[in-house]
Amino acid sequence: MVRSISCVNICRMKQIERTPWADLDGQPRELTAMLLAALEEMGRHPEIRRVRRMALEALRPEQGWRMLDAGCGAGDVARMLARETGGEVIALDSSAAIIAAAVERHDGSDVRYVAGDIASIDLPAGSVDGVWCERVLQHVDDVDGAIAELIRVTRPGGRVCLIDTDWTSLAFDGVPPALARTVIDDMHGRLTPRRADMGRTLRRRLVGKGLRDVGAVPVTCLFPSPASAAVVLPMLNPGVPADSWLTAPGVREKWFSHVEEAGARGDFLAVLTIWAVTGTV
Ligand SMILES: C[S@@+](CC[C@H](N)C(=O)[O-])C[C@H]1O[C@@H](n2cnc3c(N)ncnc32)[C@H](O)[C@@H]1O
Repeated sequence: MVRSISCVNICRMKQIERTPWADLDGQPRELTAMLLAALEEMGRHPEIRRVRRMALEALRPEQGWRMLDAGCGAGDVARMLARETGGEVIALDSSAAIIAAAVERHDGSDVRYVAGDIASIDLPAGSVDGVWCERVLQHVDDVDGAIAELIRVTRPGGRVCLIDTDWTSLAFDGVPPALARTVIDDMHGRLTPRRADMGRTLRRRLVGKGLRDVGAVPVTCLFPSPASAAVVLPMLNPGVPADSWLTAPGVREKWFSHVEEAGARGDFLAVLTIWAVTGTV
């Protein structure tokens, strides 16, 4: 089901530069609930699941590893990691509401849910064997400071896995190119205000921190129908209110009409690259 999430809408209404993901507890409760539902829906999307599988292969966690899932959201990845390794996973998120939701979804696996900021993690240096940080860094203020903190808590020889979107890679086919450009330009600077290119910067950031064995896997997600894209791409989601579109009058209607036609013809296409970058401390 496509829900009416609207990072675009929220950013516009509040006239803020940060996405609501940077401060979920500061949002109205119903919006937090909507974003949580959207997060879970994304987690079930086959392309997001593919990103996670490829990231896990690149991370190569070993049996018994103690891991940190930094910015864990509803905790489904933390629980998957705990099942995968049989070790303890610390699921950390800055939102108390999200941590409460993650606790509600607990399945008995070895996961400890903790509220906290990745900018200052309440763990001793070298206390975990591996870190997973998925689609979080595009929302934080001091990205390199947060990465330094993730590295600090990882033991020498441990592994770090950073996953993030490169929103500047977003492209469409089957719809008029100039119209698609207008719609994409409208989204940038609102959905992902300052961090649109985060995914492709991760390799440079880990190399810059002196990590060894740095690997970067660009996973290009394919959305071959408007419905398959709507969960991940807000401009394909008819539930995002019309008044949150900042394009000129009529553009949204024209866009959805072309999208619908392309969907009916069967030649609609959207692609978006999400990066999984790993390194050894
Ligand atoms: C887009 S969600 C991704 C959640 C999860 N990693 C996933 O992939 O399903 C971003 C998450 O990062 C959390 N977050 C944002 N800034 C954070 C920070 N400074 N420290 C810890 N968590 C943060 C948000 O509360 C939210 O749960």
